[in-house]
Amino acid sequence: MVKDIDWSSLGFGYIKTDYRYVSNYKDGKWDKGNLTTDETITLNESACVLQYAQTCFEGLKAYRTVDNRVVCFRPDMNAKRMADTAKRLEMPVFPEERFVDAVEKVVKANLEYVPPYGSGATLYLRPYMFGSNAVIGVKPATEFQFRIFTTPVGPYFKGGAKPITLRVPDFDRAAPRGTGHVKAGLNYAMSLHAIVDAHNQGYSENIYLDSATRTKVEETGGANIIFVTKDNKVVTPKSNTILPSITRRSLMYVAQKYLGLEAEEREIYMTEVPEFKECALCGTAAVLSPVGKIVDHGKEILIPAGMTHMGEITQKLYDTLTGIQMGRIEAPEGWLKEIA
Ligand code: PLP
Ligand code: COI
Repeated sequence: MVKDIDWSSLGFGYIKTDYRYVSNYKDGKWDKGNLTTDETITLNESACVLQYAQTCFEGLKAYRTVDNRVVCFRPDMNAKRMADTAKRLEMPVFPEERFVDAVEKVVKANLEYVPPYGSGATLYLRPYMFGSNAVIGVKPATEFQFRIFTTPVGPYFKGGAKPITLRVPDFDRAAPRGTGHVKAGLNYAMSLHAIVDAHNQGYSENIYLDSATRTKVEETGGANIIFVTKDNKVVTPKSNTILPSITRRSLMYVAQKYLGLEAEEREIYMTEVPEFKECALCGTAAVLSPVGKIVDHGKEILIPAGMTHMGEITQKLYDTLTGIQMGRIEAPEGWLKEIA
């Protein structure tokens, strides 16, 4: 049974589902955790998350497959990345195997919200953690809460698979030796002004450059970037200030092992971008969203794949990745966690 929701009209928004997972950390240990129907959180006015933004998150999806199973895509990778983020933010690690177990529990409890196969929608999971006790001097919390809620979602960008336009902003996303490589809430807080400004000027997203030299392509506010060269090589920026996207790492594997393409992670200069024939954003929310145009301070770079369709290689990557996620194509060992 699935809920009576108009799945095909969903955008990327919050819809309350029945259950969420909660575990609390106090006196140096995590409690056993449980599911709750309460979507609200009550905090002290001086909670560390409210004053000093000690919070991090993850994002992954549950899919209904062609043969009507429910699976999650590589949740162990999210568990690992959240552990890395927690260490960088002086937060306790939520044990990786418990993270995967909590993913399973929360999806099982909300099975009726996993959209039907072929509907274009999926169930998005948002694991997150925050410092919950009162602090006033600048120091980490000693009590934390870990939660996972779920919400059914459609495409991240309006228009679904229609190519989008990015602009090179005058704002930076991440500092050298900062927190760009982890999924800290603070990275997103500082992107809010840049994204509102981009939207006001008619762009879908910002394409950030490395803040040290402002010459190299990094990523957007919520997705990594891939390019395709004229001789069909898939290239993606190498940088220690971008988030190590699980989708991007999976796509590089798919390019090499499923499509027989060369795939390379390397520094990419903004001056090279006009040479590429395809460009796309990749991430859990973005999936693979084609980019048709990049505007760099009035200079328009038109990606040859154009503004109406995904490029040919992007389409192959998209079909293979989503084929794996939806059970149409055999997955590499360990990529799908079967839930039901
Ligand atoms: N880059 C940023 C800044 C993100 O917020 C995300 C989303 O999680 C990604 C990249 C894509 O990562 P993933 O493919 O693991 O979802
Ligand atoms: C995701 O793709 O899961 C993200 O976290 C990106 C964005 C919605 C913040």
